[in-house]
Amino acid sequence: MSLKIALTKGRVEHQVLPLLEAAGINCSLLKEKNRKLIINTANGEFQFILAKGPDVTTYLNAGAVDIGIVGSDILTEQRNQQAELLDLKVGQCQFVLASTNNFNFNQPGRKVIGTKYPLITQRYFEKLGRDVEIIKIEGSVELAPLIGLADAIVDITETGSTLRENNLYVYDYLDLVSTRLVANRMSLKQHATEIFSLVDRLMSVVQDLNQSGNQGSRIK
Ligand code: PRP
Repeated sequence: MSLKIALTKGRVEHQVLPLLEAAGINCSLLKEKNRKLIINTANGEFQFILAKGPDVTTYLNAGAVDIGIVGSDILTEQRNQQAELLDLKVGQCQFVLASTNNFNFNQPGRKVIGTKYPLITQRYFEKLGRDVEIIKIEGSVELAPLIGLADAIVDITETGSTLRENNLYVYDYLDLVSTRLVANRMSLKQHATEIFSLVDRLMSVVQDLNQSGNQGSRIK
């Protein structure tokens, strides 16, 4: 039986594919998938399910997949309960508080914050002891302070291009984010050998790619 892996579509998928290939997984069918959402590897070892990040945790929690490959931003926001096994050290980005150049956090008044990550945002402002109004936005969060929906945003940034191109500035740096390999706890019991074999293959790839000290590490 093949291991079912929910892989986050888009950026994560593109950054993880070279790792999978280097771990000896034939990804040719994944590369030619077009709009196909379920792809079996040629040898039947794995079945990849292409999903949106937040849905990867939904599939994991329902036991619909054995493994998820997803950003730590989503795992934190969704209060992941499954077993986080490996930091793949790709998809690295950082949470920031950002806004236009005239934003003044110290001005009195309750600030409105736009974000895709209400829980992370709430925890951040609670730590600061600040009461804010949080507006959940599904995407293109950078729009919120530009069109007057919010005073500032909490979002992830990777290259910084989206902030720069929209004249937004970083006012604080929050947690770092990277892509993680997570296993459904029941699957981990039932398919421990296959899952840990995959983890070991990927861990050695991650370590080879990060020999300068930034090494991948088994989380459990
Ligand atoms: C993410 C994030 C920023 C952008 C930052 O959005 O929410 O908008 O990437 O990346 P950068 O620093 O490299 O410019 P994503 O591309 O996932 O799309 P979305 O806005 O539709 O959620």
